[in-house]
Amino acid sequence: MTDFDIRKAGGRLGAEVVGLDVREISDPLFAELNAALLEHKALVFRGQHLDDAGQLAFAARFGPLTGAHPTVPSAEDQPRILKVDGDEGIRANNWHTDVTFVHTPPKASTLRGVVVPPYGGNTLIANSATAYTDLPGPLRELADRLWAVHTNDYDYVQPQFDNEQRQEHRKVFTSTTYRTAHPVVRVHPETGERGLFIGGFAQSIVGLSTRESRAVLELLQHYVTRPENIFRVQWQPGDLVVFDNRITQHYAPDDYGDLPRHLRRVTVAGDVPVGVDGRESRIIEGDRAAHYTPAA
Ligand code: SIN
Repeated sequence: MTDFDIRKAGGRLGAEVVGLDVREISDPLFAELNAALLEHKALVFRGQHLDDAGQLAFAARFGPLTGAHPTVPSAEDQPRILKVDGDEGIRANNWHTDVTFVHTPPKASTLRGVVVPPYGGNTLIANSATAYTDLPGPLRELADRLWAVHTNDYDYVQPQFDNEQRQEHRKVFTSTTYRTAHPVVRVHPETGERGLFIGGFAQSIVGLSTRESRAVLELLQHYVTRPENIFRVQWQPGDLVVFDNRITQHYAPDDYGDLPRHLRRVTVAGDVPVGVDGRESRIIEGDRAAHYTPAA
C-alpha cells in the first residue's frame, strides 16, 4: 500500500515525497520510504515543520543515531543535533560527505530547514555512483585500486567572519585529529552499487605524493561535481531532507549574504566502508570515535 507519491526531482538523483506526514510512518510505509532513499539517494519532504523531537524520531527510523559531531559541540541540550547556522559562520561551501574522517561515517544525514533565506542558501547533492559509472574504463580500474586518507585536520566550513573566529572554529573542529584510510571506490552495503567515496576530507591518496594525490583527487572529484550528477534543494521553511551519505556528496553555496539561514542536522550511524576487493577502511590516527557513533 502506498499513501504517498514519490516524484523524481532530478535527472540522476533526488525525489520529492508528496502527501506524507513524516510523524505518521507505519512500518510498511517506512520500508517503501527506505527503498525510495536507496533508489533516489536524496528525498525532500516539503513543509513538515518538525521540532527537534520530530526530526530525531524521523532520523531514528533509519537506524541508531550518532552524536551531533565528533568535535563540534551540539545544539544546546540536544546532544544529537548539530546547528548549521550561517550567522555562526557554518557555511559548508565545500563538496564533502559528512564526517568521512572517522572509521564509520554516517549512513544518512537529515537536514531540517528552520529559517531559510528567500533566495540562495540551497543545498546541492551529488550522485557519486553515476560519477563512478561516468569514469572512462581505465580511470575506473585505477580508482578501484586506490585508497584515500580522510582527515578533519582541514577546515571544510568557511566561516565568513574575522580571523579570530575562523581560528577558534578550526581549533574546535580539529581538537581531536582523526585520520582514516577509506577505499576511493566504496561498495554500497545495501545496493551493491559502487560510488566514488572522496570529497573534501579526502586529503591524500595512499602511496602518492601530495602533488600526485591532489591531481588524482581533483580528476575524480571533477566527475562527482559534473552538473549532470547534481540535485539542487531549494529550501522552503519547514522542509526536511534526508540523503544517503554513503553514496552522495553535498555543498551549501554561500550566496545568501547576511540573510539568516538555520538548519538542524541529525545523522544516522553507518558501518565500516568496504572497497571493491572486500577490504575494510582502517584507522590511521585517532580512535573509533565511540563518543560519537555506536559500534557498527
Ligand atoms: C552540511 O554539510 O551538513 C550542511 C549542509 C547545508 O548547510 O546545506
